[in-house]
Amino acid sequence: MTSLWGGRFEKSMDDIVKTFNASIGYDQRLYKNDIEGSIAHVTMLAEQGIVTVSEKDSIIDGLNGILQDIESGKIVFDVEDEDIHMGIESRLIARIGDVGKKLHTARSRNDQCQVDGRMYLKDEIREILNRLVHLESVILEKAEKYADKITVGFTHMQHAQPVTIGFHFMAYFQMFRRDIDRLLSAYERMDLCPLGACALAGTTLPTNRHTTAKLLGFSAPTENAMDSVSDRDYCLDFLSAASISMMHLSRWAEEFVWWNSQEFSYIEIDDSYCTGSSIMPQKKNPDMAELLRGKVGRVYGDLTQLLTVMKGTPLAYNKDFQEDKEGLFDAVDTWKASVEIFANMLEKTDFRMDMIEKQLDKGFLNATDIAEQLVKMNIPFREAHEIVGKMVKICENKGCILEDLTDDELQEIDLRITRDSMGDISIKACVDARTSFGGTAPTEVGRQIEAGKVFLDDC
Ligand code: ARG
Repeated sequence: MTSLWGGRFEKSMDDIVKTFNASIGYDQRLYKNDIEGSIAHVTMLAEQGIVTVSEKDSIIDGLNGILQDIESGKIVFDVEDEDIHMGIESRLIARIGDVGKKLHTARSRNDQCQVDGRMYLKDEIREILNRLVHLESVILEKAEKYADKITVGFTHMQHAQPVTIGFHFMAYFQMFRRDIDRLLSAYERMDLCPLGACALAGTTLPTNRHTTAKLLGFSAPTENAMDSVSDRDYCLDFLSAASISMMHLSRWAEEFVWWNSQEFSYIEIDDSYCTGSSIMPQKKNPDMAELLRGKVGRVYGDLTQLLTVMKGTPLAYNKDFQEDKEGLFDAVDTWKASVEIFANMLEKTDFRMDMIEKQLDKGFLNATDIAEQLVKMNIPFREAHEIVGKMVKICENKGCILEDLTDDELQEIDLRITRDSMGDISIKACVDARTSFGGTAPTEVGRQIEAGKVFLDDC
């Protein structure tokens, strides 16, 4: 196959140069977007009188034929194609003859790869949004189921205060809600069409970039041709959002791993989301959770790679930018699969309340609630903190819980306190009373769930 740009060359490319230079191995993923972009472009060229209507029609027929041949496996790209743009254009010319040579009027691969990339990413974002919304709906269902089921709340991985499982779930709901917001705002920013920016400076031909932007479903054309071909912010916006969201998934995955350990035994992950050991017959390992925790590494890598590629590149297009794709595709695939796997695993996981209950009287989970009870008796919080600290010390020495302290022991610490004056300090009462806005009381978790439903309905 002869190159589409060979006019000024006396020698053809060395074979290893062809291989090193080619992006066809991965950018063929963009074939549909590339053809759609070309159809819009030639439609505009005809509307503007730059090509004739019959030229446009035969170019569109040719492109549709190529699309069918790619999808039926008749066309197999290879390194001779260099990239998807050349791969399609050269086949168009081979198919329909010289009229095919008119397609590349008033455009360049520099803007073409950008319009393809943005169209591709917009589609993928819509799919990832669907999956995040599904994950959120699973979280809401589970949060409802466990709205009043009490578990240990940790800080520093130490028993801190009792919380409901529904409350813990709703914390993650907020994280994924922010991920959805981030993705929507990334989408909005990338929704501008770079097609027609040409190599870097626009064209002398009477094109209409508003037409192509509209035909391709963008809100408007990009403002500046030079920026259009050198900008990869939309990829970085996506990769940043992906990195943050994968970080959220990996945090919850980590909790799944330790909740699933023998030491905790808080959860039972469905067999279909676990694997066994090739040597230890008894093993049921939480591999999906571990893999999710691990997958975040590659997405951070994808972000760091592109930030590093872009750093210090002068305007306008540089071949370095071809390195924008593999990491982006990897992050799309990884994030998309991770959200789906996590949602399914969550759906198939049940909490073992019997095991959790055994932990609730360890670590003085109601200590802060008792201090707050003392505050209600008009004891300043710092004093109350000191008093409850002394109670904990006695319990530690005696090997009992705070509820077991006698009036005598309490009065020895402070004359203002009796067992009765502390009221109901059972773990359940403490949780029920944490009704401050955003708190863990089941009534408040119920409000958070309702607000979550409103958010999802609007998505
Ligand atoms: N395959 C190239 C890329 O993805 C397309 C643009 C090439 N432009 C060029 N002037 N060499 O970046």
